[in-house]
Amino acid sequence: MSPPITSLTCEYMTNPLGLDVRQPRLSWKLAAMHRGARQTAYQILVAGTPAILEAASAGRAQDGLLWDTGQVESDTSIHVPYAGVALQPGQRCYWRVRVWDESHAVSEWSETAFWEMGLLDHANWQADWITPDWDVPVSWPQPAPLLRREFTARSDIAAARIYVTSLGLYELWLNGQRVGDAVLTPGWTSYNHRIQYQTFDVTELVHEGDNVLGAMLGDGWYRGYLGHRGQRGLYGDRLALLLQLHLTYANGHVEIINSDTQWRAVRGPVLMSDIYMGETYDARREKPGWDKAGYDDSEWHPVRRIDHAKDTVVAQVGHFVRRHEEIRPVRRLRSPRGETIFDLGQNMVGWVRVRARGPAGMTITLRHAEVLDQEGNLYTENLRRAAQTTRYVLKGATDADEVFEPHFSFQGFRYVAVEGFPGEPTLDDLTGIVLHSDTPPIGTFECSSSLINQLQHNIVWGQKGNFLDVPTDCPQRDERLGWTGDAQVFGRTACFNMHVAAFFTKWLRDLSADQLPGGSVPFVVPDVLSRTDSGGLNRSPSSGAAAWSDAAVICPWEIYLCYGDARLLEEQYESMASWVDYVCSRADSDYVWRSDFQFGDWLDYRGTDARKPAPVTNNELIATAFFAHSADLVASAARVLGKISDAERYAGLARKVKDAFTHEFVTPAGRVGPNTQTAYALALQFDLLPEALRRLAADRLADEIRQANYHLSTGFAGTPYLCHVLSRYGHTDVAYELLNQESYPSWLYPVNKGATTIWERWNGIKPDGSFQDPAMNSFNHYAYGAIGEWLYRVVAGLEVDPAEPGYKHVLFQPQPGGGLTCARATLNSPYGMVVSAWKLTEAGFHLSITVPPNAHATVRLPARSLDALTEGGQPLATGNGIVSVHVAGSTALIEVSSGRYEFVTTGLNLAQAMAGVRHVAGRLDRYSTLRDLLARAGDAARTMLIQQLSPTCLQVPDLDWALDMSLVQVADLAPQVLTPDRLDAIEAALDADL
Ligand code: BGC
Repeated sequence: MSPPITSLTCEYMTNPLGLDVRQPRLSWKLAAMHRGARQTAYQILVAGTPAILEAASAGRAQDGLLWDTGQVESDTSIHVPYAGVALQPGQRCYWRVRVWDESHAVSEWSETAFWEMGLLDHANWQADWITPDWDVPVSWPQPAPLLRREFTARSDIAAARIYVTSLGLYELWLNGQRVGDAVLTPGWTSYNHRIQYQTFDVTELVHEGDNVLGAMLGDGWYRGYLGHRGQRGLYGDRLALLLQLHLTYANGHVEIINSDTQWRAVRGPVLMSDIYMGETYDARREKPGWDKAGYDDSEWHPVRRIDHAKDTVVAQVGHFVRRHEEIRPVRRLRSPRGETIFDLGQNMVGWVRVRARGPAGMTITLRHAEVLDQEGNLYTENLRRAAQTTRYVLKGATDADEVFEPHFSFQGFRYVAVEGFPGEPTLDDLTGIVLHSDTPPIGTFECSSSLINQLQHNIVWGQKGNFLDVPTDCPQRDERLGWTGDAQVFGRTACFNMHVAAFFTKWLRDLSADQLPGGSVPFVVPDVLSRTDSGGLNRSPSSGAAAWSDAAVICPWEIYLCYGDARLLEEQYESMASWVDYVCSRADSDYVWRSDFQFGDWLDYRGTDARKPAPVTNNELIATAFFAHSADLVASAARVLGKISDAERYAGLARKVKDAFTHEFVTPAGRVGPNTQTAYALALQFDLLPEALRRLAADRLADEIRQANYHLSTGFAGTPYLCHVLSRYGHTDVAYELLNQESYPSWLYPVNKGATTIWERWNGIKPDGSFQDPAMNSFNHYAYGAIGEWLYRVVAGLEVDPAEPGYKHVLFQPQPGGGLTCARATLNSPYGMVVSAWKLTEAGFHLSITVPPNAHATVRLPARSLDALTEGGQPLATGNGIVSVHVAGSTALIEVSSGRYEFVTTGLNLAQAMAGVRHVAGRLDRYSTLRDLLARAGDAARTMLIQQLSPTCLQVPDLDWALDMSLVQVADLAPQVLTPDRLDAIEAALDADL
């Protein structure tokens, strides 16, 4: 029999160790898949041993039970806070839950899960911070020290735990075995305020008798290069280790081995390591046996204690960074410069494992890059100062291959140039190891367009590469910082692809920690810019900027919506409110925020046509729009948290800012600001306009997009909202045209250029093949991937109801269009799997949905009458999970309880859905680029094209850029060459090919 209850988690984790949350929250999912499955009551038992738990769940009264909720009449199955006996440091708690279902029948008990407390209080750190007893210059990368300490253990060890952290990065071994599978620990936090420790269960690694602990320390974010000014040591100049090994014997006695002066240290084989620069490892300098007991370390140096705060040491929150995919190169190339280059086929983040056999002292050099230049050479200019180079000096082993992976660095790359390899390296000698925070994948999106599917692939890979402990802008150049704006823009999309609640919880704690007393929020979190001489980028370190600092408000709110996490909202509330108060203090008395540095609509499309004004949205408009939005969200958060007077105050503030916005930026005819896409997107998304003007403004936006020939011109601020406001105001067709657009600027332009991640700029590689400004041209920057949430929420139609967050009430409201014949999204929500899958046929529109148990849903389908609808092949009627059906105008609204449903409506069929679609991604028509047409069109259309555009014109190298223009654009530019008649004729020939 399958278990009635699954997925028991505590603070989002399965069986976590080292929690410093005194009332950890418990969540579970119901397994039942029948319609209407829901919970009406639950009972949780928590005990200190499995035996007590077992006996208690068999109904035998037990002393020592930590918590028995009894039967609680409630449908709550997520985030139930522990409220039993106060918990002690290191305490292990076993728990189970059973539920009463919709007919009040009680389930079996779930399997047993557990959580374990951490040290709970910094007073429980009795270890000292220790550092090797030598001084090093910090102005350049240093060899990574090895540290070791032997200890003796008695027999009967019942449990062994290591609590550990470091200044810099650490790797740890116990008796020669690597402790845990996390990499780049202790990760990156606002170290001066918070430094996370990790907890590892090492019971299996310790044995009776002599044991040895070994550690290696690297510069990492703490002491290495950080920021684009080439500065190092931003947090400190000494690496140090803080560690406690708790040995618990069968008789309950606990012995603690600390980081103390009994440790010894030496410079190890890692000659240098740096996040940006790479790593150099000299295998000849390995210390064979150093990590085994009995090794002679008499030549090693002592360590010394350093006086460093311990009250900043806090437990790890959420997921470790771990190894994920292993990618084998797809081809080996010889570049014109003579480089041997391996192509991994995917722009990835992590490092390369290399395998080689050769003479001692031979140095293999790996240089990493995202792209090749136009000639096919490794292109590294866009990495700026980040060398991204690893070097491996062979020790000359003859009996086996030497295998190397870096320890304290990571690279963003698709291509690897290999030098100094003994012999010809083969595809088997290199493997790309993908690293990222172990946020569980929870969502998928796919549809009938392979180009859009590739876009989704690129979004997911952008997320993997940039969710490496901190949400970063990019993973390759000398930046890789927690830019608040980027995280804010992409946050909602991220929530669909992976489970990021714990990841954001950690980062938002850093955000609050780095927030200034007046409420302003730094541009990057952890805030390193205030520690660097960061030039123009951080002109006024104490000030925040709209859309960037608004991450303080938008991110917690979105985590609340997607995961129902009200505790995070509570925790962040002060930070959220103080950011809005800060903006209020910076705005003028009329509530328009005019002063201060702003990033504005960062990287918006500025146009290439000197005859047309650039579609630039002014900073004051953007700043005031976000001011109103954040005030609104703080009001909503206050409402959720029961802070009634705050809710009224912030709602009142939001109203005033909205009025000010309209007064300052909107004409009575609904023209917003400079008539740019972003101006409309913000005004409409944030409900800034008076009701009467909204539709007018949306129509103006749609017109603006038509005039831009269905190209987008938004930057970071406007991009996430553009398609949403179009679909909200009846212009879904225009949104699809933007999505399907293949020529620059558009989401699919990079896809057609071979992108495997999202680019920083709409034209990282320009139509003529040349690169954008290398000073800022990342090929792995997730911000523009914010279209991802529109794919899930509108194309597949998976929406959350803010009144019942965490998908307790799912809204299924797909809006088919764009020539797509099917789309499907899945989301492993807090209640279980949500699925929305539709397809269009001649007969109608088919929607199959899954509503997880203990949730319910509202479905919207196109239908003018009940007769147009069936479910499971039967006429639609209430009963069997269908709670109500209601047709209003051309839409049917169906309330359902949990379960799977198959709806078909004749309210929309394939032919109707296709009518009026201008361009379908991947299809050749007048909106396709010349390059695509020449490469893929059938003979007739191709010949016609060549005749009409004259072969000479097409072959002039200087006109190569023109190949990336669509036929419509060419016609616009040269109407005398490509007349409307000729255009029609070419398209007719293309249609004939279909
Ligand atoms: C980063 C961005 C960031 C921006 C702010 C850039 O250098 O890469 O993504 O948001 O600076 O100006």
